Amino acid sequence: MLFEIGSTILVGGLTGYAYLKKNGSASNDADKIQKIFANSDWNGVNGETIRIHRKSKFNGGTEYVYQLPLGFDRKKIENGKHILEDGLNIKQKLFDFELSDFFNIKWDKDFLKQLKNILLQKKVVRKEIELKFDGMLRIKVYTESMKDQYDWNESYLRNGTWSVSIGNTRKGVVRHDFDEHKHLIIAGATGYGKSAILKLIVTSLVLQQPDNVNLHLIDLKGGSAFQRFKDLKQTKNFTREPSEAQGILEEIQAEMNQKYTEIVDQGFEDIKESGRKERHFIIIDEAADIADDPGCMDIVTDIARRGRGAGYYLIYATQYPSSQSIPQQTKRNIPSRLCFVLDDATASNTALGQTGAEKLPLIPGRGIYKNVKSQVVQTPYISNGEIKKQTKPHIVIKPRKERETVEPTEREESGSNTFEFEEM
Ligand SMILES: Nc1ncnc2c1ncn2[C@@H]1O[C@H](COP(=O)(O)OP(=O)(O)O)[C@@H](O)[C@H]1O
Ligand SMILES: [Mg+2]
Repeated sequence: MLFEIGSTILVGGLTGYAYLKKNGSASNDADKIQKIFANSDWNGVNGETIRIHRKSKFNGGTEYVYQLPLGFDRKKIENGKHILEDGLNIKQKLFDFELSDFFNIKWDKDFLKQLKNILLQKKVVRKEIELKFDGMLRIKVYTESMKDQYDWNESYLRNGTWSVSIGNTRKGVVRHDFDEHKHLIIAGATGYGKSAILKLIVTSLVLQQPDNVNLHLIDLKGGSAFQRFKDLKQTKNFTREPSEAQGILEEIQAEMNQKYTEIVDQGFEDIKESGRKERHFIIIDEAADIADDPGCMDIVTDIARRGRGAGYYLIYATQYPSSQSIPQQTKRNIPSRLCFVLDDATASNTALGQTGAEKLPLIPGRGIYKNVKSQVVQTPYISNGEIKKQTKPHIVIKPRKERETVEPTEREESGSNTFEFEEM
């Protein structure tokens, strides 16, 4: 028996139809995968089919192992991952509930509300897959979706290091070690987590290396992400004005040149070898705003090219790192990328050097982190309140005494009051 529930009653972000089946789905995942292989024409050069070798269960899903025919182009499957994923989700029950959940509904005027509550309480089930090629093709089918949000806590910190948590996978936390991989490009459509991860990176660096990190924060396109860090003792430069960016970048470049000469003159290859502890981070949010300013971009390119030796690391965030918004040479010097969802495969190729970001689910914080290999991650989320709490001990400009008696957040959010600060 099949029930269909019209989408009009699925409010609160739940759309589409819920198909309820009492006795589970019609065919199993192994059959579906085999059908998708056949229908997609994923065969060997002489038409040989992909054959299942082994199937095994693990906690949270099933792994299917296949033998690939000789001469099989694995790109066909890598690029068609979404076809497999969609195929496995077709006609699956969308919600994880039983008919018995509905037995207690009272069929009065509130029945729609009761129904909605049942639907909202239940988790949306979307199977996700992971592909691996190691002579065989391994397809892991996860029966649970990856979590939509991982709240940050102090266990993400690695004090005394330059290794910052960038994302969560099913297997654990992925970190970007700035002393190893240096610069980072962050791309992604508006509203999917660029500024949020920048705030987390800044907070992590301040907490992990309070005495050694130097921040140069450039917040463009009317952004307000870095405003909260401007009074930290680690913040050496802060601006929200494209017109001020060039002056700041020129200063940083001159300082970087001097540091580099000192390090090399002392006979060291780079800052790490020299044993110097300080590092500089030039962090630009909405960088496209200065992209057509050659005065700024020449310096950005120079930092990307030569900054690593002197300990000047660039974090460059933009909606879409096209050749217009980021020079080719800068991109070549920054292999590490974190990319949230993008409009299409071309944008993904431009940002990541591969497709995939266009197929990410529309979940803020869901991205592809590419370093040596690329993996789907959910960036840890830190609230503004938590940032404020964590960074407070590092603030060097303090509000006037009398301000402490009023509720600061209320005044801040109303936007109609001006603050007065005095230097300590
Ligand atoms: N990792 C995350 N987990 C959960 N929610 C997130 C995450 N990152 C961002 N968000 C949500 O998405 C909103 C937009 O993120 P933001 O970083 O401002 O996007 P962008 O800078 O790319 O336009 C945030 O205000 C927050 O509510
Ligand atoms: Mg932003």
